[in-house]
Order: sequence, then structure tokens, then C-alpha cells
Amino acid sequence: MSFPVDTIRKDFPILDTKANGKPLIYLDNAATSQKPLRVINAIKDYYEATNSNIHRGAHYLANKATEAYESSRQAIATHINAKSAREINFVRGTTEAINLVAYTYGRKFIKAGDEIITNTMEHHSNIVPWQMLCEETGATLRAIPINDKGEIIFEEYLKLLSPKTKLVSIAYVSNSLGTINPVEKIIAEAHKVGAKVFIDGAQALPHMKVDVQTLDCDFLGFSGHKVFGPTGIGILYGKEELLNAMPPFMGGGEMIKSVSFKGTTYNELPYKFEAGTPHIEGGIVLGEAINYINEIGLDNIAAYEHELLVYGTQKLSQIEGLRIIGTAEHKSSVISFLVNNIHPYDLGVLLNEQGIAIRTGHHCCQPLMDRLGIEGTCRASFAFYNTKEEIDQLAIAITRAVKVLA
Ligand SMILES: Cc1ncc(COP(=O)(O)O)c(C=O)c1O
Repeated sequence: MSFPVDTIRKDFPILDTKANGKPLIYLDNAATSQKPLRVINAIKDYYEATNSNIHRGAHYLANKATEAYESSRQAIATHINAKSAREINFVRGTTEAINLVAYTYGRKFIKAGDEIITNTMEHHSNIVPWQMLCEETGATLRAIPINDKGEIIFEEYLKLLSPKTKLVSIAYVSNSLGTINPVEKIIAEAHKVGAKVFIDGAQALPHMKVDVQTLDCDFLGFSGHKVFGPTGIGILYGKEELLNAMPPFMGGGEMIKSVSFKGTTYNELPYKFEAGTPHIEGGIVLGEAINYINEIGLDNIAAYEHELLVYGTQKLSQIEGLRIIGTAEHKSSVISFLVNNIHPYDLGVLLNEQGIAIRTGHHCCQPLMDRLGIEGTCRASFAFYNTKEEIDQLAIAITRAVKVLA
């Protein structure tokens, strides 16, 4: 059966937008994804029929909101195959998930002389929190070298691993190149030296099935807004024994068992890491977004997006002077490119005039750009609501823009 993209597009009202008088072609999905009606309606429904603070109330709405919030937590636990919903912590997004682990696990367990390994192609949010931790503790941050195709050099990774390695933090999928990293092997090797592994799932969760037990990762973070859900909400998964061993992140209401001036005891998981009134509507609606993609089926999504990637790669490669940046064997639906010596931003502006939304720049990956010897790229990133016709339009628009800029 072919992928029902025309039906699916009807779920996304924003796709009918006219941008600069042209039908919008939205190819900036790696930055943030669009939201299906079901998610948009769930936000409205929440405020019309459920809104209340959670956990503490003894009234109808408080119970209803609590139930919806906790059942969303359970849906997310099931989605990533966590052993328990206690391992699912609501946070603001991937950035907060990484910072939470750096501040709590990192400051308790990482000491001077220890090493943390990350990857040359990481997003800044998976570099800077570890640099800050290293500055404070005297630990050292190391980066796995990559080849010119944008793949990690596995033997180099193995050379970096040692008993000093306490943590490996790596993206499942690169946001700027689309490389799918061999995380299962990376995790297995890290565990051999006793290191824990954080998987940045920001670019994986929207496109593929992620099973934390099969991967055996110790932590996983992802962002709701990239997975067709609301902004300001995301998930930190952690193995229960690790989360239990970590000190709390923020202090305040909800994360305590009892408070007195003699001393405070902390709540159980997952509330220990959820101080204050959380993003209740975001948590509930993220569950709705997850249910939505599960109904389409992540295997169907992955297969269709792979078709788009292959088609787009072929199509764009035919444009004279266009260079695809990131040609890894295993890629998700991201095509980064440069044309001749045209500045990516100039090309982005001309594509925007033709209704096409791409992203230009370093994509929060300056160390990667340094490694590749470029300032930035143009990046077209596809979701399951994009079409081959849109890719045709992209190719026509690039050719037109290049003539203007030549
Ligand atoms: C791979 C990767 N990690 C982390 C982030 C940060 O996500 P957020 O800004 O939602 O916290 C992004 C955002 O683009 C990303 O692509």
C-alpha cells in the first residue's frame, strides 16, 4: 500500500498557508515540525474541559487533569518501551534533558580526571553542558572524529574509550547532516568500560522507532515540538536506578516528600525531577502527538521518508554546482547542501520568496562546520507530510535562485 500522504496532509492546516503569495513548502522539520489538528484540538480541549493544577487537588478537574497527565506519561513510556513510567520525566525539551543529567548525575558522579565523550557533529546543546561540567569538575570532554561523509570513525571512538570514560553523550541522528549514528554499538562499547550513555533523540523520535531497552541506553532526551507536539515540553528518560541515585535538579513544590527547616526529603520518581507546576497541557498533548504518529506507524513513516530522501538526493544532485554535505550510508530525511560559492543565507532568502522554507547556517553545530571547513549549509529536512512534488519545486526554485545569484 502506498503511503497516504494526501490524506495525512489534511491533518495539518498550516500546510495550506500561502507564503509570500506562493503555496508554502515547509522543509524545516528538523528545526520544528508542524502540528496535526488532533494536537491543536487537544490543546483547546484541555483549556475548555480539563484545566486545573495537578496531583494536589481533591476536586473533579484536578483529578481529570492528573489522570490525563499521568496517562500521557504512561503512553510515552510504552512508546519508547521504558520499563516503567517512573523513568519518564517531563522537561522542557532535549536541551533541558541534557542539562538535567549534566547538573545532577554529572556533578555527583563525574570528577577531575574523568572523561566524557561526545561527537564532532553534535548540536551545541550536547556539547556546551558537558563543557560547563568539565570546567567545574576538571573532567575532560573528547569528541569522536568523523570522516568526510559525516560518519563517526568507529575505530577512533574505540581508541577514546578507557576506564576514565564516565559518560558518552551522542545524538542518534545528526540534525545538520541526517547521519544515523550506530548508537547500539556505541552504547555496547561504552558499557564495556563502565561508562553511562546519554542518547540525544531529538532527531530520531520524529522518524523512527526508538526502544530504550533494546538500545540499553542509560538516558534519552527528546523534544515535543519536533515530534508533532507542543513547544516547551520534552522527555528525559533515565534508568530507574540511575535516576534514584541522582540528586534533584530544581527544588520547590511537588519534588518533596516533606519539608522542615531541619531538613527536606525528596519525592519519589518521577516527581523528584518535576519541581513546581509543570507544563500540564504540554505533557498531556505530547501524549496525543505520540498516539497520532503511532496510528500512522513509525515503520510506514520511516519507509516513506526514506523514499523522499532517495528522491531528493537524486533530484538535487542533478543541479549543476550543488554539493550535498553529509553523505553517510545511513541517513534520515535531511539534505544539507551548498551550491557553488553562494552563501547559504542568500539562497535561503530567494527560496523563501518562492514559498519554500529551509534552514540556513551552522544549525547549532559550529564544531562540525569547522571540521568540514565551511561556514554553514542550506538544509532541507523532510517530514512524512512532504511530497515528491514539493521536492521537484525545491529543485526548480534552487535552479532559479542560482541563476539570479550567479
Ligand atoms: C540533535 C539535536 N539535539 C538537541 C536539540 C535541542 O532541542 P531543543 O531546542 O528542543 O531543546 C536539537 C534542536 O534542533 C537537535 O536537533
